[in-house]
Amino acid sequence: MRILPTVSLVVLGLLLTGGAWSQTTLQKQAQGLFKPIPATPPALPGNPASPAKVALGKALYFDPRLSESHAISCNSCHMVGMGGVDLQETSLGHRWQHGGRNAPTVYNAVFDTAQFWDGRAKDLEQQAGGPLVNPVEMDTTEGHVIEQLKGIPGYQTLFAQAFPTEKEPMTFDNVRRAIAVFEATLITPGAPFDHYLQGNDKALDAAQKEGLSLFITKGCVGCHSGINMGGDRYAPFGVVEKPGSQILPPNDKGRFAVTKTVSDEYVFRVPPLRNIALTAPYFHSGKVWDLRQAIAIMGSSQLGQTLTDDEVGKIEAFLGTLTGPQPAVTLPILPPSVATTPQPKP
Ligand code: HEC
Ligand code: HEC
Repeated sequence: MRILPTVSLVVLGLLLTGGAWSQTTLQKQAQGLFKPIPATPPALPGNPASPAKVALGKALYFDPRLSESHAISCNSCHMVGMGGVDLQETSLGHRWQHGGRNAPTVYNAVFDTAQFWDGRAKDLEQQAGGPLVNPVEMDTTEGHVIEQLKGIPGYQTLFAQAFPTEKEPMTFDNVRRAIAVFEATLITPGAPFDHYLQGNDKALDAAQKEGLSLFITKGCVGCHSGINMGGDRYAPFGVVEKPGSQILPPNDKGRFAVTKTVSDEYVFRVPPLRNIALTAPYFHSGKVWDLRQAIAIMGSSQLGQTLTDDEVGKIEAFLGTLTGPQPAVTLPILPPSVATTPQPKP
């Protein structure tokens, strides 16, 4: 477990300073535990970005014709104007079916080292294939995606421009690559907490700083740290005390489904907390609509502590500083369908 060393370092730090660390100590401490969101999209290994590839990825992200019904696009569940989520308990997909889990945000997902609540995809490129062929999401097949795209003449040009060295650029792998490169542009640098980490002590007010201090001393940071304050490791939901079945439905055993290892029962990827104020409802089950309640549950389930209302309020104030300016994404004009374009199967 990587939790314990961090927590004990924090406790040691507290003992050495007699518990009364100054603001600048807090800022230094924070700089060691978290990292600001970089100003520009990171490069993806083996998948270099170009304006043409980003443009293709954006078109695919917004194109509902990639779904069997032609009614659902990536943006249906990860709306770029709404925090990169759908604000549903669990998403509505093909034929009005509900999936089993809450949709995480696509914003800053490029910084996560595992995708999905159970980490079953390692990166955005691998992830992007999942929803297309998921029967309760877009319900198509890899073959049909390509058939569909070949039936929309304008896509020939977009793929040729995005993958100029390839003879047959219209492949499912390239669909995934282009979407991943577009998603890497969906980042939210410049949140108040980023400014604070970059040295502006005034970027956080007193209550927000107290919340940050609690986030560190109570031990939240043992799991939620790094650029995204999560997204890079796993932990059981209920380290100390399992939440009730209303919040942790017994049928979803999380990472156990991926590894088939008993110790992974009810283990989930530690979710990123960037823009968390915009992405209710919370937890993989989407059962908690109030961020304050989510914070209180974390206190009891992960740390065995009953946080006071005042502490919860301050942590909430701090988490609010993780909301960055949302990227201004212009809607792409999609290549038109023609008479021979495969029709929707509603
Ligand atoms: C019907 C709703 C729906 C559609 C359509 C959909 N997604 Fe998702 N997406 C989800 C849900 C739900 C999850 C979480 C599933 C899980 O963890 O098991 C998810 C997870 C993700 C993640 C992982 C984020 C993280 O933090 O782990 C990314 C990235 C993502 N989707 C991108 C896409 C892309 C790209 C498309 C289009 C090709 C797409 N999604 C289409 C609902 C949807
Ligand atoms: C032992 C690791 C661990 C610790 C400590 C921890 N968390 Fe979490 N946190 C998780 C995991 C795992 C989840 C995902 C639970 C689920 O939905 O399956 C989570 C979920 C959350 C969520 C909901 C995220 C979302 O997108 O729905 C919030 C908010 C949160 N934690 C805040 C906190 C706060 C505040 C603290 C300290 C009081 C804390 N966490 C302590 C592991 C941890």
